[in-house]
Amino acid sequence: MALETSTTKSSPARKTAETPQPDAVVSFRHVAKSFGTKRVHSDITFDLRRGELLGLIGGSGAGKSVILRSLVGLEKPDHGEIFVGGQEISKLKELDLIEIRKQVAYVFQNGALFDSMSVFDNLAYALREHTTLDEEVIRGRVLGRLKDFGLAGNEGLFPANLSGGMQKRVGLARSIILQPSVVLYDEPTAGLDPYNTKRICDMMLKLKADGASAIFVTHDMPALFAVADRIAVLKNGRIHAIGTREEIEQQDPWVRRFIDGDEL
Ligand SMILES: Nc1ncnc2c1ncn2[C@@H]1O[C@H](COP(=O)(O)OP(=O)(O)O)[C@@H](O)[C@H]1O
Ligand SMILES: [Mg+2]
Repeated sequence: MALETSTTKSSPARKTAETPQPDAVVSFRHVAKSFGTKRVHSDITFDLRRGELLGLIGGSGAGKSVILRSLVGLEKPDHGEIFVGGQEISKLKELDLIEIRKQVAYVFQNGALFDSMSVFDNLAYALREHTTLDEEVIRGRVLGRLKDFGLAGNEGLFPANLSGGMQKRVGLARSIILQPSVVLYDEPTAGLDPYNTKRICDMMLKLKADGASAIFVTHDMPALFAVADRIAVLKNGRIHAIGTREEIEQQDPWVRRFIDGDEL
C-alpha cells in the first residue's frame, strides 16, 4: 500500500483537469488508442480518487478492458498520458512495469488459477515469488485472506474441485494477495449466481475498507450500485459522464436509458 498520491510542482493556479489532482491515484489524460484502423479510445480523461471504488460501464466493445489493460502497461496508448501514483507509466519499459504491477492488481475475467496447485499454493505463489516473507508469515497471510473472504477451510482443495463461483472468488483473493494500492476488476461477477455475486461484492467492499482504490468494470447494474462510489460511462471513445448515479443520469438522459437497458 505504498503508492504516493500524485504531486505536481505547478502552482495551484495552474492546476486544471490537465494535471493529476492531489487526491488522484490514477489519472488518464487525453488517452487515444487505435487497433489498426479501428479507433477504440478517442480522448479518455478521468481520475480515480484515493480510496474510491469507481464503476466503469459502457457497451460491449466500448473499450473498458483496454482502459484496464493500459493501466498495467499491457496496451500502450497512441497519445496521451496515464499516471499511476504520480508516475507517468505509458512509456515505461517492461522492467519498470513489473513494479507498477505489484501496486496495481488486474483481476482477470476468468480467475486464471493454476490447476496443478492447491488453493493455498495459488495464493502463496506471488508472496513466495515477489517477497522475502518466510513461510510462517506467508501461511498466516494466506489463511487470513481466505478467512476474510469467507473461504476458510478450502485451502487444501484444487481448482478442479471448486465451483465456478468459488474459483472466481479464489482468483480474486489471489490477485490481491500482495496488498495492491489499486485493484482493477474486469466483470468479476459475470456469469455468477446471486450468492457468489454477493460474496464478490463483499470482497470488493472489504478491500475498499482496507484502503485500496479500485475500478470495477461491469454490466451487472445491481452489483455496480451496491459498491461503486462514482460511475464513469464510456461511450464513443470518451468518458461520456462521471459522477454518482444521480449525477450521471442528470448529465445525459441517455445514461439512464443505458442503465435501464432501454438503449445501447
Ligand atoms: N489486442 C487487440 N487487437 C485488436 N483489437 C483489439 C485488441 N484489444 C481490444 N480490441 C478491440 O478493441 C475494442 C474494445 O475492446 P475491449 O476493451 O475489450 O471492450 P470492452 O468494453 O467490451 O471491454 C473491441 O472492438 C476489440 O475488438
Ligand atoms: Mg471487456
